[in-house]
Amino acid sequence: MTELAIIGGSGLTKLEGLEITNRQVLKTPYGEMSSPIIHGVYADKSIAFLARHGTQHTIPPHKINYRANIWALKHIGVKNILAIAAVGSIHPDMQPGDLVIPHQIIDYTWGREHTFFTEDLSHVTHIDFTQPYCEELRNMLLDSAQEVDFKIFSQGVYGTTQGPRLETAAEIDRMEQDGCDIVGMTGMPEAALARELELCYATCAVVANEAAGRGNALITMEEIEENLTDGIDYVRQLLIQVIQDLE
Ligand code: HPA
Repeated sequence: MTELAIIGGSGLTKLEGLEITNRQVLKTPYGEMSSPIIHGVYADKSIAFLARHGTQHTIPPHKINYRANIWALKHIGVKNILAIAAVGSIHPDMQPGDLVIPHQIIDYTWGREHTFFTEDLSHVTHIDFTQPYCEELRNMLLDSAQEVDFKIFSQGVYGTTQGPRLETAAEIDRMEQDGCDIVGMTGMPEAALARELELCYATCAVVANEAAGRGNALITMEEIEENLTDGIDYVRQLLIQVIQDLE
């Protein structure tokens, strides 16, 4: 059974090198998934892959059906989810092209379907979310990171904003004061939904740009895409390493 799924974000709508065995579309109680689940073999292991923004990168962060995606992965028997996400850097040491394995989240999103626990409840449930990421999977990523020779930060606070616009400089100042190191738009509610379904979930964030007001220039899509090309290449190397290291 495929126990590991990769959710690809911006810059990773396809996993190059994945030997595809089949594509699966599921009907979920929550509506349509972002993309079919692609099953295949990567680094000699069976894995599943799902493109968070759709196969053609057409679904913006606030329109992603996070519940359908996470429900579908749980339904097919996935136990571990490795989520790839493009982010802006707030911490001055984190530079475009670097990878960050965040350890904490601050959620600034609003109006998203953020829980499975809304209807037909036999009792009210509050998940523990003190540590939002699965330590086991984070540690595996960090162990594998020692085998590769590019820069990976072993922790960081991921502030998730609503988007799709980028932030103002003052919003980034406030996020910095809050303790955020990186900013992205898809970290939540994905991580919390995975926890609600008792999935082991960790994120590998790729720095695509310096956050608003941190660099000298305006942030352009061209810049983001260019930086992501390098970063995603590192992500692929890390994925191969981590998947090889899987039991
Ligand atoms: N802000 C929010 N999300 C992002 C950014 C950013 O600067 N870069 C990539 N995703």
